[in-house]
Amino acid sequence: MEKNQRVPVIWLQFQDCTGCSESFIRSTHPKVESVLLNMISLEYSEALSAASGHQIEAALEHVLEHYPGEYILAVEGSLPTDDAFLTVGGVSAKETFLRAAKGAKAIIAYGSCSSWGGIPAAYPNPTKAKPITHFVKDKPVVLVPGCPPIAEVMTGVIAHIITFGKLPELDHLGRPKAFYRHRIHDKCNRRAYFDAGLFAESFDDEGARQGYCLYKVGCKGPTTYNSCAEMRWNGGVSYPIQSGNPCIGCSEKGFWDNGPFFVR
Ligand code: SF4
Ligand code: SF4
Ligand code: F3S
Repeated sequence: MEKNQRVPVIWLQFQDCTGCSESFIRSTHPKVESVLLNMISLEYSEALSAASGHQIEAALEHVLEHYPGEYILAVEGSLPTDDAFLTVGGVSAKETFLRAAKGAKAIIAYGSCSSWGGIPAAYPNPTKAKPITHFVKDKPVVLVPGCPPIAEVMTGVIAHIITFGKLPELDHLGRPKAFYRHRIHDKCNRRAYFDAGLFAESFDDEGARQGYCLYKVGCKGPTTYNSCAEMRWNGGVSYPIQSGNPCIGCSEKGFWDNGPFFVR
């Protein structure tokens, strides 16, 4: 990597499922190839780097040493507050994160795990997982929640930082306003049915077949801030509600405990 070319990016994964990385590589506007080959130099990624073992660790050290204040740190997954739960090669997740955060030009929390704690922090939270904002207080963190986030939101945020040299405008929780200013409910394709009082009462009734509002089968669109209804997924093809499934609020704090998955 030559100095002053593409912006170096370190992508750390902690308590995660790699779903956020999987989403990222499906970006179509901009294409992920364009992001990876023209905009950024992805120096460290467990999922995407060709190198592994000592080679990739050396790449990480090289960026930390030679590009302080220039690299972007992307974090996928939450961190345990007890080091015993995540220590790699004798180095705790917290230490790895704090070392990388110290010299970062910008920090992006990709996904609901790094933004809010996510599934590792769901009850009973055995690792005492926390979002990355619990560990770094001296610089802003851009939160890009979603489980996973929309690919184009992920690439859009990093493209903004690189293009304009500064963070996008954030809301009071640290989310980019451009992508999190609306509730799903505000832009939902079924909204007219909600306003008309036409609801599916079950997943296989006539209302469901007619495409009526999914509020009565658990839709959390009225309390969920995300761009799904505007940008849609897979290059703008569809999103959960359009495909017949209620929004489960995957971009909201604590959704694993408040959603349809677990009953205490
Ligand atoms: Fe996986 Fe969801 Fe966490 Fe991303 S936010 S790492 S997709 S569980
Ligand atoms: Fe709102 Fe959900 Fe009904 Fe859409 S399906 S109008 S988001 S309650
Ligand atoms: Fe998640 Fe709801 Fe979008 S479940 S993917 S925020 S429609």
